[in-house]
Amino acid sequence: MRKPVIVGNWKMNMTVSEAKNLLADLKEKRLDTEVEAGVCTPAIDLPIAAEILEGTNIGFGGQNMHFEESGAFTGEISPTMLKDVGATYVILGHSERRDIFGEDDKLINEKLLSAFDHDLTPILCCGESLEEREANKQEERVKAQLEADLKDISESDIKKLIIAYEPIWAIGTGKTASADDAEAMCAFIRNLVAELYSKEAAEAVRIQYGGSVKPANVKELMAKENIDGALVGGASLKADDFEALVNHRG
Ligand code: 13P
Repeated sequence: MRKPVIVGNWKMNMTVSEAKNLLADLKEKRLDTEVEAGVCTPAIDLPIAAEILEGTNIGFGGQNMHFEESGAFTGEISPTMLKDVGATYVILGHSERRDIFGEDDKLINEKLLSAFDHDLTPILCCGESLEEREANKQEERVKAQLEADLKDISESDIKKLIIAYEPIWAIGTGKTASADDAEAMCAFIRNLVAELYSKEAAEAVRIQYGGSVKPANVKELMAKENIDGALVGGASLKADDFEALVNHRG
């Protein structure tokens, strides 16, 4: 059985003072322990997340990292730094990193290999643009991304991976993919993992949907067979919404 996993992606939101308030509010929530919960904060908020979330079952992580452990890489943070602060997750290959900051599949693959080397749980994002969806090329696009991103990733590591399917046109737009469309792509991704690895690996890998997930639509999405969780932007910035997302079963 795959454990459901709801992760907040705060993106470039929350100063340290704001983060303190949000984290303190989250700490007060009674969250379903059968659901894995985490927040991926700006790097500057990670120490405060470590401090405030200690003793809770909310994990935390980064939104990106370099693949090297240290060195002359101005502006970057490393897997060692994430581990040292107690982070367990790292989001890799988010469409904003790909589109705004020019990250390509080769770089994302190097980061993914490094994240596994450092015992972090990567959340690997993939997803098509609106043009690709309109041209019915979404499967082709996601397949190409995943084949390249997963190069040299071992069978044992793939079982620990979280894949987040995030159609770009649904991110921050209020347009959620229909639960059926999201399920169809998550099923496609699971089949792809079966083809590239094994049936066992496909059964183990967790696949999230991301894109305008909110309390009002989380139940329908999570009811789908191949959707194991959500990667949530906007709605993760409010403690009540995040609570409702994690507690979607009850
Ligand atoms: P929204 O939930 O704000 O649409 O963002 C989705 C996302 O990009 C999560 O990584």
